[in-house]
Amino acid sequence: MSRRGPAEPPAIRIEAENEWAWCGERRLELTPRVFAVLRHLVEHAHRLVTKDDLLATVWRDTIVSDAALASSIRDLRRALRDSAGSPRYIATVHRRGFRFIGPIAPPAPSLSSHVAGLPAAGAAMPPSAIVSPGPVTLAGREAEIARLHAALDRATNGQRQLVFVTGEPGIGKTALVEAFLSRISGDRAIRIARGQCVEQYGAGEAYLPVLEALGRLGRASGDRVVHVLRQFAPTWLMQLPSLLMDEDLEAVQRRAQGATRDRMLRELLDAFDALSADELLVLVLEDLHWSDSSTIDLLAGLARRREAARLLVLGTYRSADVAATLHPLGSMKQELSIHGQCEEMPLEFLSVPAVREYLSVRFPRHRFPPELALVLQRNTGGNALFVVATVDDLIARGRMCEVDGTWELSMPVKDVAADAPETLAQMVERQVARLTMDEQAMLAVASVAGVEFSAAIAAADGIDPRDGERRCDALARRGQLLRAAGLAEWPDGTVAGRYAFIHALYRRALYARVPITRRIGLHLRTGARLERAYGPRAGEIAGELAIHFEHGRDLERAVQYRGRAAENALRQHAYREAADHARRALDLLGSWSRSSGSRPSGRLPEAPERVHQELTLMVALGTALTAMKGYSAPE
Ligand SMILES: Nc1ncnc2c1ncn2[C@@H]1O[C@H](COP(=O)(O)OP(=O)(O)O)[C@@H](O)[C@H]1O
Ligand SMILES: [Mg+2]
Repeated sequence: MSRRGPAEPPAIRIEAENEWAWCGERRLELTPRVFAVLRHLVEHAHRLVTKDDLLATVWRDTIVSDAALASSIRDLRRALRDSAGSPRYIATVHRRGFRFIGPIAPPAPSLSSHVAGLPAAGAAMPPSAIVSPGPVTLAGREAEIARLHAALDRATNGQRQLVFVTGEPGIGKTALVEAFLSRISGDRAIRIARGQCVEQYGAGEAYLPVLEALGRLGRASGDRVVHVLRQFAPTWLMQLPSLLMDEDLEAVQRRAQGATRDRMLRELLDAFDALSADELLVLVLEDLHWSDSSTIDLLAGLARRREAARLLVLGTYRSADVAATLHPLGSMKQELSIHGQCEEMPLEFLSVPAVREYLSVRFPRHRFPPELALVLQRNTGGNALFVVATVDDLIARGRMCEVDGTWELSMPVKDVAADAPETLAQMVERQVARLTMDEQAMLAVASVAGVEFSAAIAAADGIDPRDGERRCDALARRGQLLRAAGLAEWPDGTVAGRYAFIHALYRRALYARVPITRRIGLHLRTGARLERAYGPRAGEIAGELAIHFEHGRDLERAVQYRGRAAENALRQHAYREAADHARRALDLLGSWSRSSGSRPSGRLPEAPERVHQELTLMVALGTALTAMKGYSAPE
């Protein structure tokens, strides 16, 4: 969920000795007074800083009115490209003061912060090896890393590259990509943009991962990216309001008028060329088996361009899912590979030596029997996620323990296999069974909300949001099922911790455990909570709301939001997505009127209203289908 919930903005770094402040890689131009305000807020991050407090600290030498403070906050927000309405850094606490809610980087950039997977400075250190290690401990993937470096070298020479990393869930696609990125991220001459496709509603949201990647890139590298987008891709910049000041938005909207699908695609291809002309650009799109078809068209466009570009596109996907669902990615990839325009890197399962390497990295001092790696590999088939979960399980049950600083197996190695679940799903079940009932309840509502969620969604199950947050926090600290992912703020001002399932399979497994009637109720209340949270902006998450209301059996609202999702897609010239939404809405409308006699909730709209709704949807569908014909649609 919360796809339009702000992605993590760039972190703020205070360089006290120079009186400089950085927003990602952009140095902020601040007067000394405004700098002092920012510094004070950052030093008291996440706490309420009252106006009196700020006036007493920053203006201690002079007597000023609230207006001086208000003007400094305004300047600061402008410099941070923040807005009072949907703040990412400075939230107003009504009548009282302000609260700094953005991410903060440690004072001086340290090398260790580039080593992915290590806890951020200041975070409580976990007991050794209890928390699942991050991607630094990548084992047995040297050949793949070398291939990625080779592709990067070719991209550096202006040969655009499209590489797909493929394999089953849990095999280690994300870990490989992250390890590679952490190796190259120290290089200031490389821009990295990342976007993620999302399971529940990804296919209906046009350009979801691309917009996410552009948004993050714009926020991380600031003016240059926004400048290039303004010049070459106004139709895209318009869809990224978080990168623009309000007054800019109007100007960009004017320039973007009258766009067509072709123009949109061309604009972005040009923008990527311009960006990669000054610096190497690495675009990472994760889990493309869930992507919308517009993103696939864009990828094909990027790969087919003949112009030189210092561009490396890395896509990950589950090949079996693509084949089973006839996802358009399948035929696109085949077509591109025939022409040598892309490269596929299917990942192998971890070998026995790789599992051994994993053990020795995670447990630098151990006295495990040499056969342990073999047993683990056999039992899990070499699926990395399964290996990690099995080891976590052995630790949790005290079968692996630390004695005087050395890890040991406290059971005969031959019993490890007999003792372990046969499938990853059973393993997850065992992990969940160990949690408290409160934690299980929180995870159930989270699994309905999505792979990433705001802890405030706990309210959908009658859980006090602060309690919900505490439960998520406890799980994330132990490295169990969840990880912390910054802060989430809804347009109604609700601020809470954002969390993500460590792996999409965990969300799946937890969701499957929720009994069906409870699931219906949770979807309904999650949709209702989000609808309230977004208020007049609910249309922005129409696709997500439609899915909650569909599963929650509120057909009236499901039809309404499907319709709005279709309109959103039409505005993006994403005709296939628009047609899918409109068709779905018409189906719902049909089943709604058929079942209206026995339907327990909601009312059947008055006939004229229903006819009007149906007509609007048919017009949307017609528009989409007609437009698609022009783009070699199969229909
Ligand atoms: N080569 C590896 N060595 C050690 N651990 C790995 C390796 N590959 C993946 N993992 C771990 O396995 C888990 C699942 O990997 P992930 O990359 O998320 O899988 P995928 O993206 O293919 O679904 C993660 O916890 C990850 O840290
Ligand atoms: Mg992954």
